[in-house]
Amino acid sequence: MASPRITVIGLGYLGATHAAAMAELGFEVLGLDVVPEKMRKLEQGSAPMFEPGLEELLRSHVAGVEGSSGRLRFTDSWEEIAAFGDIHFLCVNTPQKHGEYGCDMSYVDRAVDSLAPHLERPALVVGKSTVPVGSAERLAARIAALAPAGADAELAWNPEFLREGFAVKDTLHPDRIVIGVGGPRAEALLRDVYATPVAEGTPFLVTDFPTAELVKTSANSFLATKISFINAMAEVCEAAGGDVVKLAEAIGHDDRIGRKFLRAGIGFGGGCLPKDIRAFMARAGELGASEALTFLREVDSINMRRRAQMVELAREALGGALLGKRIAVLGATFKPDSDDVRDSPALNVAGQLHLQGAQVTVYDPKGMHNARAVFPTLGYAPSALDAARGADVVLHLTEWAEFKELDPAALGDVTAARHILDGRNTLDPTLWRKAGWTFRALGRPTL
Ligand code: UDX
Repeated sequence: MASPRITVIGLGYLGATHAAAMAELGFEVLGLDVVPEKMRKLEQGSAPMFEPGLEELLRSHVAGVEGSSGRLRFTDSWEEIAAFGDIHFLCVNTPQKHGEYGCDMSYVDRAVDSLAPHLERPALVVGKSTVPVGSAERLAARIAALAPAGADAELAWNPEFLREGFAVKDTLHPDRIVIGVGGPRAEALLRDVYATPVAEGTPFLVTDFPTAELVKTSANSFLATKISFINAMAEVCEAAGGDVVKLAEAIGHDDRIGRKFLRAGIGFGGGCLPKDIRAFMARAGELGASEALTFLREVDSINMRRRAQMVELAREALGGALLGKRIAVLGATFKPDSDDVRDSPALNVAGQLHLQGAQVTVYDPKGMHNARAVFPTLGYAPSALDAARGADVVLHLTEWAEFKELDPAALGDVTAARHILDGRNTLDPTLWRKAGWTFRALGRPTL
């Protein structure tokens, strides 16, 4: 069988990486996004967001870029997408609905409604977006009803587990591939697409639609629960005088628990975990199973409480008042190695401090542009040292590698006071205390 031709619809973190990875695996790929600026950037081989390794991968494959394979092209025509592709990957975003917990499916629905009427020959539409369980069955029926090819226009669900900052690695070398299918043809086509990672040993799991959809939401719920668990232990440590960093290390040595995702701090954010657990609760409610997920409400509140606790720690460090105090904030993105500030705990804390009257200056290695767009009234500085100039307290809120390398003595020379608060528990307290800093962190004892 000739290699299937692939299209990717929606070219954000997920889609842009998936399209480039499919070209890297040797497929001819055609991408479409409804945002023209994104397409223009991609056509020149530029990544629409900062993601390590993505730009290099795009430049290797985008047609027209010198020395590229030419296997990756873009179009804004649904007719062209339908005519070109044997397999259509749906990678559009599914944000939280405005003002409520549920998932906004309008982008997925619109993509299906735009594509399906042009599917005139056998085709497989593969959903990758994170959706409420039950969506795949509904969309499969809609595609079959709208497509001239009828039942030959099939659907499969293939959740994506990539992490921002590791998107390229996670896409080319996933730790598992899960597909929810309605029949053997879809399975055969997807086995073909993923032959390379499967040959390298990646487990390939075939399920029904609801299981595939649930694998994604339950994996993200588990991860969020693990973070909130350790953050709850941080609260207890604060009350009892314990050290959550040592506690996490000690319990993590039990390999049934594991050491990953046990870093206490200001909690999780980003475009996935917060909205996915909320959408999961909303969907469970619709299914009459809300009791099964009431614990996720607690997971969410612990997470939000940690941001508030960081603000309180800053207030305490400043002698009880924030008004007019100068605060340097290191980090704006929701995690390092990303420029994403969606639901960023760092930016949220910076914003709360600003709204309570502090003079906040933020520095982030990659997220300044996005942070400014979301929170234009905060101060921004071009380096950690510039942000810290004259500061009464420094807050470490996103664990970029460059903050670990900071020289406490040099930073102390430009601040008004040597107070640092670690909201991510990745700085070395001994190093900072040796340089004369008062060092405080969430869930750790004050010395
Ligand atoms: C997550 C899932 O990990 C990924 O599998 C899924 O496909 C999408 O959602 P991502 O949003 O990129 O990926 O970030 P992740 O690395 O999971 O981190 C989420 C948040 O949790 C970040 O804000 C991070 O700082 C925080 N976190 C992570 C902690 O606070 N403590 C930890 O121990 C780990």
